[in-house]
Amino acid sequence: MSLVRCRKTTCPGQPRAIEFFQGTLAQRSEFETVRIFDTTLRDGEQTPRTSFDYDDKREIAAVLDEMGTHVIEAGFPANGDAEFEAIQDIAAATENTVAGLARVVESDVEAALDAGVDMVHVFASTSDVQIEDSMHATREQVMDRSIAAVEQVVDAGVEVMFSPMDATRTDREYLAAVVEAVDEAGTDWINIPDTTGVASPSRFADLVAFVDEHADARIDVHTHDDFGMATANAVAGVEAGADQVQVSVNGIGERAGNAAYEEVVMAAESVYGADTGIDTTRIMELSGIVSAKSDVPVPVNKPVVGDNAFAHESGIHAAGIIENADTFEPGVMTPEMVGAERSVVLGKHTGTHAVRQHLEEAGYDPTDAEVREVTREVKDYAAEKQHVTARDLHRFAADVGVEKETETQEVRA
Ligand code: KIV
Ligand code: ZN
Repeated sequence: MSLVRCRKTTCPGQPRAIEFFQGTLAQRSEFETVRIFDTTLRDGEQTPRTSFDYDDKREIAAVLDEMGTHVIEAGFPANGDAEFEAIQDIAAATENTVAGLARVVESDVEAALDAGVDMVHVFASTSDVQIEDSMHATREQVMDRSIAAVEQVVDAGVEVMFSPMDATRTDREYLAAVVEAVDEAGTDWINIPDTTGVASPSRFADLVAFVDEHADARIDVHTHDDFGMATANAVAGVEAGADQVQVSVNGIGERAGNAAYEEVVMAAESVYGADTGIDTTRIMELSGIVSAKSDVPVPVNKPVVGDNAFAHESGIHAAGIIENADTFEPGVMTPEMVGAERSVVLGKHTGTHAVRQHLEEAGYDPTDAEVREVTREVKDYAAEKQHVTARDLHRFAADVGVEKETETQEVRA
Protein backbone atom coordinates (compact mmCIF):
# COMPACT_ATOMS: atom_id res chain seq x y z
CA MET A 1 0.00 0.00 0.00
CA SER A 2 1.43 3.36 -0.87
CA LEU A 3 1.06 6.03 1.76
CA VAL A 4 0.27 9.60 0.83
CA ARG A 5 2.02 11.90 3.23
CA CYS A 6 -0.37 14.23 4.87
CA ARG A 7 -0.02 16.32 7.98
CA LYS A 8 -3.02 17.08 10.12
CA THR A 9 -2.49 20.81 9.64
CA THR A 10 -2.42 20.65 5.85
CA CYS A 11 -4.92 17.92 5.06
CA PRO A 12 -7.92 18.35 7.37
CA GLY A 13 -10.23 15.41 7.52
CA GLN A 14 -7.80 13.01 5.90
CA PRO A 15 -6.02 10.26 7.78
CA ARG A 16 -2.44 11.11 8.51
CA ALA A 17 0.23 8.74 7.30
CA ILE A 18 3.83 8.91 8.31
CA GLU A 19 5.79 7.89 5.27
CA PHE A 20 9.15 8.21 6.98
CA PHE A 21 8.56 5.38 9.39
CA GLN A 22 7.79 2.84 6.72
CA GLY A 23 10.18 -0.03 6.90
CA THR A 24 11.71 1.18 10.15
CA LEU A 25 9.06 1.62 12.79
CA ALA A 26 5.69 0.01 12.52
CA GLN A 27 2.89 2.46 12.17
CA ARG A 28 0.55 1.76 15.02
CA SER A 29 -1.83 3.77 17.08
CA GLU A 30 -1.17 2.91 20.73
CA PHE A 31 -3.39 5.77 21.91
CA GLU A 32 -5.56 8.33 20.18
CA THR A 33 -5.90 11.04 22.79
CA VAL A 34 -4.13 12.13 25.93
CA ARG A 35 -4.90 14.87 28.43
CA ILE A 36 -2.25 17.31 29.55
CA PHE A 37 -1.92 18.32 33.23
CA ASP A 38 0.56 21.15 33.52
CA THR A 39 2.48 21.53 36.78
CA THR A 40 4.85 24.34 35.76
CA LEU A 41 3.38 26.60 38.43
CA ARG A 42 3.68 23.96 41.17
CA ASP A 43 6.43 21.32 40.59
CA GLY A 44 8.06 23.67 38.07
CA GLU A 45 8.23 26.37 40.70
CA GLN A 46 9.97 23.90 43.01
CA THR A 47 13.02 24.19 40.73
CA PRO A 48 15.88 25.26 42.99
CA ARG A 49 16.25 29.07 42.88
CA THR A 50 13.01 29.61 40.94
CA SER A 51 9.98 31.51 42.17
CA PHE A 52 7.06 32.98 40.25
CA ASP A 53 5.36 36.14 41.50
CA TYR A 54 1.65 36.85 41.17
CA ASP A 55 1.93 38.37 37.67
CA ASP A 56 4.19 35.56 36.42
CA LYS A 57 1.67 32.96 37.54
CA ARG A 58 -1.26 34.78 36.00
CA GLU A 59 0.53 35.25 32.67
CA ILE A 60 1.74 31.65 32.40
CA ALA A 61 -1.66 30.27 33.44
CA ALA A 62 -3.43 32.46 30.87
CA VAL A 63 -1.25 31.17 28.00
CA LEU A 64 -1.61 27.55 29.15
CA ASP A 65 -5.36 28.03 29.27
CA GLU A 66 -5.55 29.65 25.83
CA MET A 67 -3.53 26.76 24.41
CA GLY A 68 -6.11 24.28 25.69
CA THR A 69 -4.13 22.66 28.53
CA HIS A 70 -6.61 20.36 30.26
CA VAL A 71 -5.48 20.94 33.86
CA ILE A 72 -3.32 23.75 35.23
CA GLU A 73 -1.87 23.05 38.67
CA ALA A 74 -1.55 26.62 39.90
CA GLY A 75 0.33 25.93 43.13
CA PHE A 76 0.06 24.92 46.76
CA PRO A 77 -2.68 27.06 48.37
CA ALA A 78 -1.59 26.40 51.96
CA ASN A 79 1.86 27.80 51.19
CA GLY A 80 1.04 31.41 52.10
CA ASP A 81 -1.10 34.43 51.31
CA ALA A 82 0.59 35.43 48.03
CA GLU A 83 0.34 31.88 46.69
CA PHE A 84 -3.27 31.58 47.83
CA GLU A 85 -4.25 34.83 46.14
CA ALA A 86 -2.60 33.89 42.84
CA ILE A 87 -4.30 30.47 42.81
CA GLN A 88 -7.66 31.97 43.73
CA ASP A 89 -7.49 34.51 40.90
CA ILE A 90 -6.25 31.93 38.38
CA ALA A 91 -9.11 29.61 39.36
CA ALA A 92 -11.60 32.43 38.80
CA ALA A 93 -10.14 33.49 35.46
CA THR A 94 -9.40 30.13 33.84
CA GLU A 95 -11.65 28.21 31.49
CA ASN A 96 -9.93 24.84 31.90
CA THR A 97 -9.53 22.92 35.16
CA VAL A 98 -7.36 24.51 37.84
CA ALA A 99 -5.81 22.24 40.46
CA GLY A 100 -4.30 23.05 43.84
CA LEU A 101 -1.94 20.77 45.75
CA ALA A 102 -2.58 19.65 49.34
CA ARG A 103 -0.91 17.32 51.79
CA VAL A 104 -3.23 14.81 53.48
CA VAL A 105 -3.78 17.42 56.17
CA GLU A 106 -7.21 18.94 56.88
CA SER A 107 -6.01 22.55 56.79
CA ASP A 108 -4.22 22.04 53.46
CA VAL A 109 -7.34 20.61 51.86
CA GLU A 110 -9.38 23.43 53.40
CA ALA A 111 -7.03 26.03 51.89
CA ALA A 112 -7.33 24.45 48.44
CA LEU A 113 -11.12 24.36 48.68
CA ASP A 114 -11.19 27.98 49.89
CA ALA A 115 -9.07 29.01 46.90
CA GLY A 116 -11.90 27.79 44.68
CA VAL A 117 -9.89 25.30 42.62
CA ASP A 118 -11.75 22.83 40.40
CA MET A 119 -9.55 19.93 41.50
CA VAL A 120 -7.70 19.22 44.74
CA HIS A 121 -4.56 17.14 44.26
CA VAL A 122 -3.80 15.39 47.55
CA PHE A 123 -0.60 13.47 48.03
CA ALA A 124 0.97 11.23 50.67
CA SER A 125 4.22 9.29 50.66
CA THR A 126 3.74 5.56 50.31
CA SER A 127 7.34 4.31 50.17
CA ASP A 128 8.71 3.19 53.51
CA VAL A 129 11.74 5.44 53.27
CA GLN A 130 9.54 8.52 52.89
CA ILE A 131 6.89 7.38 55.37
CA GLU A 132 9.57 6.91 58.02
CA ASP A 133 12.06 9.69 57.31
CA SER A 134 9.95 12.37 55.66
CA MET A 135 6.41 12.00 57.01
CA HIS A 136 7.58 10.41 60.31
CA ALA A 137 4.48 8.28 60.29
CA THR A 138 3.38 4.66 59.89
CA ARG A 139 1.78 2.90 56.92
CA GLU A 140 -1.51 2.79 58.84
CA GLN A 141 -1.44 6.54 59.52
CA VAL A 142 -0.71 7.30 55.87
CA MET A 143 -3.61 5.08 54.86
CA ASP A 144 -6.05 6.73 57.29
CA ARG A 145 -5.00 10.28 56.44
CA SER A 146 -5.20 9.58 52.71
CA ILE A 147 -8.75 8.27 52.99
CA ALA A 148 -9.78 11.21 55.18
CA ALA A 149 -8.30 13.78 52.78
CA VAL A 150 -9.99 12.24 49.75
CA GLU A 151 -13.31 12.12 51.62
CA GLN A 152 -12.94 15.77 52.63
CA VAL A 153 -12.67 16.80 48.98
CA VAL A 154 -15.42 14.44 47.85
CA ASP A 155 -17.75 15.84 50.54
CA ALA A 156 -17.08 19.34 49.22
CA GLY A 157 -18.22 18.18 45.78
CA VAL A 158 -14.88 18.96 44.16
CA GLU A 159 -12.85 16.78 41.78
CA VAL A 160 -10.03 14.95 43.56
CA MET A 161 -6.74 13.46 42.49
CA PHE A 162 -4.71 11.27 44.86
CA SER A 163 -0.96 10.74 44.51
CA PRO A 164 0.83 7.90 46.32
CA MET A 165 4.13 9.78 46.36
CA ASP A 166 7.21 7.71 45.51
CA ALA A 167 4.96 5.05 43.97
CA THR A 168 7.87 3.60 41.99
CA ARG A 169 9.71 2.76 45.24
CA THR A 170 6.65 1.56 47.14
CA ASP A 171 5.93 -1.98 48.23
CA ARG A 172 3.41 -3.28 45.68
CA GLU A 173 1.05 -4.86 48.19
CA TYR A 174 0.85 -1.68 50.23
CA LEU A 175 0.48 0.44 47.09
CA ALA A 176 -2.45 -1.73 45.98
CA ALA A 177 -4.06 -1.40 49.40
CA VAL A 178 -3.76 2.43 49.39
CA VAL A 179 -4.99 2.69 45.82
CA GLU A 180 -8.02 0.50 46.58
CA ALA A 181 -8.80 2.50 49.71
CA VAL A 182 -8.70 5.94 48.08
CA ASP A 183 -10.60 4.56 45.12
CA GLU A 184 -13.29 3.35 47.50
CA ALA A 185 -13.24 6.80 49.17
CA GLY A 186 -14.19 8.31 45.82
CA THR A 187 -11.07 9.72 44.20
CA ASP A 188 -11.62 10.67 40.56
CA TRP A 189 -7.98 10.31 39.62
CA ILE A 190 -4.99 8.34 40.80
CA ASN A 191 -1.72 9.93 39.83
CA ILE A 192 1.30 7.62 39.74
CA PRO A 193 4.39 9.63 40.63
CA ASP A 194 7.88 8.48 39.77
CA THR A 195 9.09 10.93 42.39
CA THR A 196 12.80 10.21 42.12
CA GLY A 197 12.89 9.37 38.41
CA VAL A 198 13.94 5.74 38.83
CA ALA A 199 11.43 4.21 36.42
CA SER A 200 12.15 2.80 33.00
CA PRO A 201 9.50 2.78 30.26
CA SER A 202 8.63 -0.92 30.45
CA ARG A 203 8.71 -1.06 34.25
CA PHE A 204 6.59 2.08 34.51
CA ALA A 205 4.08 0.72 32.00
CA ASP A 206 3.85 -2.41 34.14
CA LEU A 207 3.19 -0.30 37.25
CA VAL A 208 0.49 1.72 35.49
CA ALA A 209 -1.26 -1.49 34.43
CA PHE A 210 -0.96 -2.81 38.00
CA VAL A 211 -2.53 0.32 39.55
CA ASP A 212 -5.24 0.33 36.89
CA GLU A 213 -6.22 -3.19 37.95
CA HIS A 214 -6.75 -1.98 41.50
CA ALA A 215 -8.83 1.12 40.80
CA ASP A 216 -11.83 2.44 38.93
CA ALA A 217 -10.44 5.97 39.01
CA ARG A 218 -8.76 7.39 35.94
CA ILE A 219 -4.98 7.19 35.82
CA ASP A 220 -2.56 10.08 35.54
CA VAL A 221 1.24 9.87 35.53
CA HIS A 222 3.93 12.18 36.94
CA THR A 223 7.52 11.45 35.93
CA HIS A 224 10.87 12.99 36.85
CA ASP A 225 13.93 13.25 34.65
CA ASP A 226 16.78 12.09 36.90
CA PHE A 227 17.90 9.58 34.28
CA GLY A 228 16.62 11.47 31.25
CA MET A 229 13.63 9.15 30.88
CA ALA A 230 10.77 11.36 32.08
CA THR A 231 9.12 11.80 28.68
CA ALA A 232 9.70 8.18 27.65
CA ASN A 233 8.25 6.96 30.93
CA ALA A 234 5.26 9.29 30.63
CA VAL A 235 4.30 8.11 27.15
CA ALA A 236 4.91 4.49 28.18
CA GLY A 237 2.40 5.18 30.96
CA VAL A 238 -0.12 6.40 28.41
CA GLU A 239 0.52 3.35 26.23
CA ALA A 240 -0.29 1.26 29.30
CA GLY A 241 -3.61 2.97 29.89
CA ALA A 242 -3.05 6.34 31.61
CA ASP A 243 -5.42 9.08 30.42
CA GLN A 244 -3.37 12.06 31.50
CA VAL A 245 0.25 13.16 31.83
CA GLN A 246 1.72 15.71 34.23
CA VAL A 247 4.26 17.94 32.54
CA SER A 248 6.09 21.22 33.02
CA VAL A 249 7.13 23.71 30.38
CA ASN A 250 10.83 23.31 29.46
CA GLY A 251 10.83 20.34 31.85
CA ILE A 252 11.55 22.51 34.91
CA GLY A 253 10.92 21.06 38.36
CA GLU A 254 12.53 19.33 41.30
CA ARG A 255 16.19 18.34 40.62
CA ALA A 256 16.46 17.36 36.92
CA GLY A 257 12.84 18.35 36.40
CA ASN A 258 9.66 16.82 35.06
CA ALA A 259 8.54 15.44 31.72
CA ALA A 260 8.57 18.46 29.41
CA TYR A 261 5.25 19.85 28.16
CA GLU A 262 6.62 20.41 24.66
CA GLU A 263 8.16 16.93 24.42
CA VAL A 264 5.11 15.02 25.63
CA VAL A 265 2.67 17.04 23.52
CA MET A 266 4.74 16.79 20.34
CA ALA A 267 5.56 13.11 20.84
CA ALA A 268 1.86 12.39 21.33
CA GLU A 269 0.86 14.46 18.31
CA SER A 270 3.67 13.64 15.90
CA VAL A 271 5.02 10.22 16.85
CA TYR A 272 1.78 8.62 18.02
CA GLY A 273 -0.58 10.66 15.81
CA ALA A 274 -2.73 11.35 18.87
CA ASP A 275 -4.91 14.41 19.36
CA THR A 276 -4.03 16.38 22.48
CA GLY A 277 -6.26 19.31 21.60
CA ILE A 278 -3.36 21.65 22.43
CA ASP A 279 -2.56 24.64 20.21
CA THR A 280 1.00 23.53 19.51
CA THR A 281 1.83 26.64 17.46
CA ARG A 282 2.28 28.58 20.72
CA ILE A 283 4.81 26.18 22.23
CA MET A 284 7.84 28.38 21.47
CA GLU A 285 6.11 31.45 22.88
CA LEU A 286 5.16 29.54 26.05
CA SER A 287 8.69 28.18 26.42
CA GLY A 288 10.18 31.67 26.12
CA ILE A 289 7.83 33.11 28.74
CA VAL A 290 8.54 30.31 31.22
CA SER A 291 12.27 30.51 30.64
CA ALA A 292 12.26 34.27 31.30
CA LYS A 293 10.02 34.08 34.37
CA SER A 294 11.72 31.02 35.90
CA ASP A 295 15.20 32.27 35.12
CA VAL A 296 16.05 28.84 33.72
CA PRO A 297 17.65 29.09 30.27
CA VAL A 298 16.59 26.63 27.59
CA PRO A 299 19.59 24.50 26.50
CA VAL A 300 20.30 24.93 22.78
CA ASN A 301 19.90 21.20 22.17
CA LYS A 302 16.61 20.89 24.08
CA PRO A 303 14.09 18.88 22.05
CA VAL A 304 11.39 20.94 20.33
CA VAL A 305 12.22 24.34 21.87
CA GLY A 306 16.03 24.57 21.88
CA ASP A 307 17.71 26.96 19.44
CA ASN A 308 19.19 23.98 17.61
CA ALA A 309 16.00 21.91 17.41
CA PHE A 310 15.51 23.00 13.79
CA ALA A 311 19.04 24.29 12.98
CA HIS A 312 21.43 22.63 10.55
CA GLU A 313 25.12 23.19 9.88
CA SER A 314 26.91 20.19 8.45
CA GLY A 315 27.23 20.06 4.68
CA ILE A 316 25.21 16.93 3.94
CA HIS A 317 22.42 17.85 6.33
CA ALA A 318 22.16 21.48 5.23
CA ALA A 319 22.17 20.53 1.55
CA GLY A 320 19.43 17.98 2.20
CA ILE A 321 17.36 20.44 4.21
CA ILE A 322 17.66 23.11 1.51
CA GLU A 323 16.29 20.63 -1.01
CA ASN A 324 13.65 19.04 1.22
CA ALA A 325 13.42 19.64 4.98
CA ASP A 326 12.10 16.12 5.55
CA THR A 327 15.54 14.69 4.75
CA PHE A 328 17.09 15.50 8.11
CA GLU A 329 14.18 16.56 10.30
CA PRO A 330 11.54 14.22 11.71
CA GLY A 331 9.16 15.29 8.97
CA VAL A 332 6.25 14.59 11.30
CA MET A 333 7.19 17.65 13.34
CA THR A 334 7.96 20.90 11.56
CA PRO A 335 9.10 24.21 13.07
CA GLU A 336 5.79 25.78 12.00
CA MET A 337 3.89 23.27 14.13
CA VAL A 338 5.53 24.62 17.29
CA GLY A 339 5.95 28.26 16.30
CA ALA A 340 9.67 27.95 15.64
CA GLU A 341 11.83 28.72 12.60
CA ARG A 342 14.26 26.56 10.69
CA SER A 343 17.80 27.84 10.22
CA VAL A 344 20.86 26.83 8.23
CA VAL A 345 23.89 27.90 10.23
CA LEU A 346 27.33 28.66 8.80
CA GLY A 347 30.23 27.01 10.61
CA LYS A 348 33.13 24.60 10.50
CA HIS A 349 31.03 21.85 8.89
CA THR A 350 29.34 24.04 6.32
CA GLY A 351 29.06 22.99 2.68
CA THR A 352 28.60 24.99 -0.51
CA HIS A 353 24.80 24.67 -0.65
CA ALA A 354 24.39 26.55 2.62
CA VAL A 355 26.90 29.21 1.63
CA ARG A 356 25.17 29.75 -1.69
CA GLN A 357 21.83 30.09 0.04
CA HIS A 358 23.21 32.62 2.55
CA LEU A 359 24.94 34.64 -0.16
CA GLU A 360 21.84 34.73 -2.31
CA GLU A 361 19.67 35.73 0.63
CA ALA A 362 22.14 38.54 1.32
CA GLY A 363 21.68 39.79 -2.25
CA TYR A 364 24.78 38.29 -3.94
CA ASP A 365 24.93 36.45 -7.24
CA PRO A 366 27.98 34.21 -6.77
CA THR A 367 29.56 31.91 -9.33
CA ASP A 368 30.26 28.31 -8.31
CA ALA A 369 33.95 29.11 -7.89
CA GLU A 370 33.14 32.08 -5.65
CA VAL A 371 30.85 29.93 -3.52
CA ARG A 372 33.69 27.42 -3.09
CA GLU A 373 36.10 30.18 -2.06
CA VAL A 374 33.71 31.74 0.43
CA THR A 375 32.98 28.28 1.83
CA ARG A 376 36.68 27.77 2.45
CA GLU A 377 36.88 31.11 4.29
CA VAL A 378 33.82 30.26 6.38
CA LYS A 379 35.24 26.88 7.40
CA ASP A 380 38.69 28.22 8.25
CA TYR A 381 37.25 31.05 10.30
CA ALA A 382 34.81 28.80 12.17
CA ALA A 383 37.55 26.22 12.82
CA GLU A 384 39.10 28.83 15.11
CA LYS A 385 35.96 28.62 17.26
CA GLN A 386 34.49 31.77 15.76
CA HIS A 387 30.77 32.18 15.11
CA VAL A 388 30.10 33.23 11.53
CA THR A 389 27.84 36.27 11.50
CA ALA A 390 26.14 38.08 8.60
CA ARG A 391 28.84 40.73 8.84
CA ASP A 392 31.54 38.04 8.47
CA LEU A 393 29.80 36.68 5.40
CA HIS A 394 29.79 40.13 3.77
CA ARG A 395 33.50 40.43 4.58
CA PHE A 396 34.27 37.05 2.97
CA ALA A 397 32.16 37.96 -0.06
CA ALA A 398 34.08 41.22 -0.41
CA ASP A 399 37.45 39.38 -0.02
CA VAL A 400 36.48 37.00 -2.80
CA GLY A 401 34.96 39.77 -4.93
CA VAL A 402 31.43 38.37 -5.13
CA GLU A 403 29.12 40.85 -6.78
CA LYS A 404 25.71 41.89 -5.56
CA GLU A 405 22.86 40.68 -7.73
CA THR A 406 21.93 44.20 -8.86
CA GLU A 407 25.56 45.02 -9.81
CA THR A 408 25.72 41.81 -11.87
CA GLN A 409 22.48 42.65 -13.59
CA GLU A 410 23.71 46.20 -14.34
CA VAL A 411 26.93 44.84 -15.86
CA ARG A 412 24.96 42.33 -17.94
CA ALA A 413 22.54 45.04 -19.09
O1 KIV B 1 7.19 14.08 42.41
C1 KIV B 1 6.16 13.90 43.11
O2 KIV B 1 5.92 12.84 43.67
C2 KIV B 1 5.25 15.02 43.25
C3 KIV B 1 3.94 14.74 43.93
C4 KIV B 1 3.47 15.88 44.75
C5 KIV B 1 2.94 14.31 42.91
O3 KIV B 1 5.51 16.09 42.76
ZN1 ZN C 1 7.17 15.86 41.25
